[in-house]
Amino acid sequence: MAYRHRIGRRYNPPQNELSYTENFLYMLDRLSEENYKPNPKLSKALDVLFILHADHELNCSTAAMRHIGSSLVDPYSAVAGSAAALYGPLHGGANEAVLRMLEEIGSIDKVPLFLEQVKDRKRKLFGFGHRVYKNYDPRAKIIRKIAYEVFEVCGQESLIDVAIELERIALQDEYFVKRKLYPNVDFYSGLIYKAMGFPTDMFPVLFAIPRIAGWLAHWKESLEDKESKICRPRQVYVGPRVRSYVPLELRETSDNNINTKVEHPFSKRSLVATFDNKDPTLSKL
Ligand code: ACO
Repeated sequence: MAYRHRIGRRYNPPQNELSYTENFLYMLDRLSEENYKPNPKLSKALDVLFILHADHELNCSTAAMRHIGSSLVDPYSAVAGSAAALYGPLHGGANEAVLRMLEEIGSIDKVPLFLEQVKDRKRKLFGFGHRVYKNYDPRAKIIRKIAYEVFEVCGQESLIDVAIELERIALQDEYFVKRKLYPNVDFYSGLIYKAMGFPTDMFPVLFAIPRIAGWLAHWKESLEDKESKICRPRQVYVGPRVRSYVPLELRETSDNNINTKVEHPFSKRSLVATFDNKDPTLSKL
């Protein structure tokens, strides 16, 4: 419904005779056609992707779901908190980050330079590495295969060549081999979603939709557990004991680079508009 609202179209109510992913595509794409049926290869591909994304044990967003649910909030609020945890680029937002990274690299010949920057810690190779899997994510293998099945229907997505070259070089490079960094579930999924024509900022949504099944299963299981209590981790304080007060202007700034950002919705149109409290730094953007 959010997608339909965004494209300025009326909502399509679901149809009983369609499967879950057929209905999803139907609700997104039908305009006023009668008997509209999404392409079976695309609904099948989404079905596989949705199953692979449905649950994955205690990842960041699922842990958030159990944590938030433990205070007995309603499940909608717990899902909202989990979705917020999911969209970060180190977690489910990585599928979007991968696509933006591939677009920036642009062509195969730029891959070696990009990987040098990763090794110099100037960049991150999104879609690589996993907190638990220190091997090739088995889901990524299946998703890579699905990508080609989708390309047969929607046309080849040219950035796949850049992705394959990144994977080829990285898997032979000592930096990645030593650290056991392999493609994860997000490395190829963004290319599939792009080939299918989804807007890039909707990719984490396409992760969240199936993951909600896993979140809710965890939520239910955790609350049915008679031993369940409110989540309340304890913290072991390891900082300084007694410190004198230091005035703000004399405090040293931390050199820890916390890299999170919120994109502000300034369009070119608002930059060239006139209004009273205009921030002069904006015109330099
Ligand atoms: N690119 C470059 N270097 C990496 C990457 C990467 N993607 N991932 C890990 N490393 C390096 C680290 O810098 C570290 O190097 P060091 O030992 O020299 O300091 C080493 O590999 C170990 O990394 P950790 O930070 O310990 O790995 P961790 O298991 O904590 O992190 C994570 C896992 C967050 C997924 C990380 O690999 C990452 O940032 N990947 C990119 C984002 C991504 O694709 N996330 C999706 C994960 S799957 C999912 O959530 C659905």
